[in-house]
Amino acid sequence: MKNDIKILALESSCDETSAAVVVNGTTVLSNIISSQIELHKRYGGVVPEIASRKHIEKINPVIQEALDEAQVTFEDLDAIAVTYAPGLVGALLVGLASAKAIAFACNKPLIGVHHIEGHICANYIENPQFKPPYICMVVSGGHTHLVYVKDYGKYEILGKTRDDAVGEAFDKVARSIGLGYPGGPKIDELAKSGNSKAIDFPRSYLEAGSFDFSFSGIKSAVLNYINQSAMKNEVICEADIAASFQAAVVEVIVDKTIKAAKKHNINQIALAGGVAANSKLREEMQAACNKEKFYLQYPSMVYCTDNAAMIGCAAYYDYLKGIRHGMELNAVPNLKIGEKIE
Ligand code: KG4
Ligand code: ZN
Repeated sequence: MKNDIKILALESSCDETSAAVVVNGTTVLSNIISSQIELHKRYGGVVPEIASRKHIEKINPVIQEALDEAQVTFEDLDAIAVTYAPGLVGALLVGLASAKAIAFACNKPLIGVHHIEGHICANYIENPQFKPPYICMVVSGGHTHLVYVKDYGKYEILGKTRDDAVGEAFDKVARSIGLGYPGGPKIDELAKSGNSKAIDFPRSYLEAGSFDFSFSGIKSAVLNYINQSAMKNEVICEADIAASFQAAVVEVIVDKTIKAAKKHNINQIALAGGVAANSKLREEMQAACNKEKFYLQYPSMVYCTDNAAMIGCAAYYDYLKGIRHGMELNAVPNLKIGEKIE
């Protein structure tokens, strides 16, 4: 008797080409990630056309490596999962075309996964006991969403950024103080030797009771600070800028997440997305959760940034619900979570 559900998952929505084989949503047999970071570094950000071309080059070898490492063949699979939204359209299409080709040729079901849902589900991989309902703060290079996860696949967006995503703010501030791309990890590291109280950067809370975010103000405040210091011939301390910027951003994120949990009477919080790798965010969110006696879950680094294992995890819960997609499934660059096509 065969009970285990083996899913091959593909992720190519931005600058990582990834394939994973995941059993029953949380047992990761392989999770191969080919990062394009080096390629985009010289441009200071992801160049969509270069990303698509590189995905085309990498997708087949990455899939083969994932199958080999998991010691499975296409025949052993129960479904093919793929990120179909949101993301760079050309990049998404590479994973989607590959997934459709495999599903069609091997006569396996196709499951399209929303990228943000993948980030959220990454929390189950290392702790399958962790279950909805919970409040999830999704913080990545492209998204900043405060999500009420009511059940598997049932989401309510409580708030989101009105301008820049938090990861984008980290990357832009990093660039302005001469750290390369991606800036998030570099700010995180540099901030450790800085004084987080040195500069009083603005905290943007927006209207009372709002769960939305805005990071363009603090980004401009950092640039103004640097320009004004240069005009006054003052030497700037990059570590203090990094620490003060990070502290301001983290303070707002932690505050709104805790308030959202209290408002909805939820005592579990999760972090997701690339910026969930941030050490200060983890530390401050943990401290706030300890104070409120809330449980905090976050994925390890490899499952925070883009990876296919999280897509395989999300697809498993869809698989159990009978969600399947046809060959007409298209890439949707800006689909909201919860609006997923079923
Ligand atoms: O989730 P992700 O891999 O891609 C998107 O779906 O957008 O997130 C990438 C983002 C980048 O902006 C990167 O700078 C940020 O996550 N990031 C961090 C850290 N590690 C990655 N930001 C702050 N601190 C970190 N340690
Ligand atoms: Zn992502």
